Amino acid sequence: MLEIQPYWYPAINVRRSRRQYQKDRPIAAEARQRLHEVCSGFRPFNGVRVEFIDEPPDDIFANALGFYGNIKNAPAFLAFIGDTSNPNMQEKMGYTGEAAILGATSLDLGTCWVALTYNTRAVKSIIKLEKTEKLICVSPVGHTTEKWSFEEKVLTGFGSNHQRKPLTAMVSGLPQSSWPAWARSAVEAARLAPSAMNRQPWGFLVEEHSITVYVKDRGPEFNVARRLDCGIAMLHIELGALNRGATGNWDFLTHPQVARFSVK
Ligand SMILES: Cc1cc2nc3c(=O)[nH]c(=O)nc-3n(C[C@H](O)[C@H](O)[C@H](O)COP(=O)(O)O)c2cc1C
Repeated sequence: MLEIQPYWYPAINVRRSRRQYQKDRPIAAEARQRLHEVCSGFRPFNGVRVEFIDEPPDDIFANALGFYGNIKNAPAFLAFIGDTSNPNMQEKMGYTGEAAILGATSLDLGTCWVALTYNTRAVKSIIKLEKTEKLICVSPVGHTTEKWSFEEKVLTGFGSNHQRKPLTAMVSGLPQSSWPAWARSAVEAARLAPSAMNRQPWGFLVEEHSITVYVKDRGPEFNVARRLDCGIAMLHIELGALNRGATGNWDFLTHPQVARFSVK
């Protein structure tokens, strides 16, 4: 069993959705091993799992007619699988899946959460799903066509131009001047979380000892649950808090609230 890892935190700032991969550059055995360890070891909640398929028989982002979407030449992929009978599955999936994404990022590998444009049949021929399980998303994994290394990106602040709403549009509760340091670090990390179509559907209620995540933006979901995006932001919150020495627990809540992180 793997706990939340502080080394995932610097990956928050440099992670970007990557869609073009180097065709003939395989992932080193050591990196594959480490990613397998994250996927099989980091399972904080029942009912969700991430599988890393490092030698797929088929390109799941391509079909006979060409490409499904815009992901090119990915040598490997992650599959995000949730048990539909499990309460709070979507947010648990986002939280757990993002650990694999950040783990891959810190290994200098590109990723991209993909909800729609891939060959589900090809994935299901590789991974056996239980009766109540559903394939929620996938992500390509591999070396991208870009030249910068992970360390270079961390050092130069590459990531700082993420297109995100300002914090004031997503945070309520205590005035900014009274945010504890852990809470500021947490919401700044959550702001950089990826979301489907970059819709950033979350709101964060900051109180003295807690942050409550809720679904702020309503309306049609386009087949991707906003609670999944919120789950991704939850992992970022916890990593941001941890970076300032704060640990805590999650309590799941009912819609439109998602979960509350309470520091110890
Ligand atoms: C749940 C989820 C589903 C996504 N689905 C797709 C997808 O089907 N195709 C795609 O190209 N990008 C997809 N994305 C990537 C988002 O478009 C991307 O995260 C967002 O625009 C923010 O950009 P960034 O990840 O580079 O910060 C998805 C992201 C999330 C979180």
